[in-house]
Amino acid sequence: MMKFSDDKLKEVQRIINFYPDGKQKSAVIPVLHLAQQEFGGWLSTETMDYVASLLKLAPIEVYEVATFYSMYNLKPVGKYMFEVCQTGPCMLNGSDDIVKYIYDKLGIKPGETSADGLFTLKTVECLGACGYAPMMQMGKNYREHLTKEKVDAIINECRNEATAIKN
Ligand code: FES
Repeated sequence: MMKFSDDKLKEVQRIINFYPDGKQKSAVIPVLHLAQQEFGGWLSTETMDYVASLLKLAPIEVYEVATFYSMYNLKPVGKYMFEVCQTGPCMLNGSDDIVKYIYDKLGIKPGETSADGLFTLKTVECLGACGYAPMMQMGKNYREHLTKEKVDAIINECRNEATAIKN
């Protein structure tokens, strides 16, 4: 059965304590983030049920939140996730070409993960960096003013890092 480590459980309790008694539902977003980080980068039904039990919520209340926001992954993802913004300013500056180029390079469409398990492609709505269009989020960082050359460099950087970690 899945379970957070004692440290993470303390963190969950700390988050719950931010809110008044009976309002622990407000903790669902940060606790889902923690669960996603902790349990392989995505939220399985089992993980969401576990979060529901910790927060004393009905599972459906957790599913509703997890399925609403694009920042939660509902199936396994690659080590590196390219979340390409496809809203107006990014689209006008070529985000479709970037998505297509990633498909040409890695053979993945939005929602898919490469066979080597390294890359997942997602398309998302405005990430608030419209002045740097076209852009994507990768982990905690934004990659901006994307071009095909920049995408090549980012893919190489990820592959090199993954190889270095393996060796
Ligand atoms: S439209 Fe892409 S960051 Fe706003």
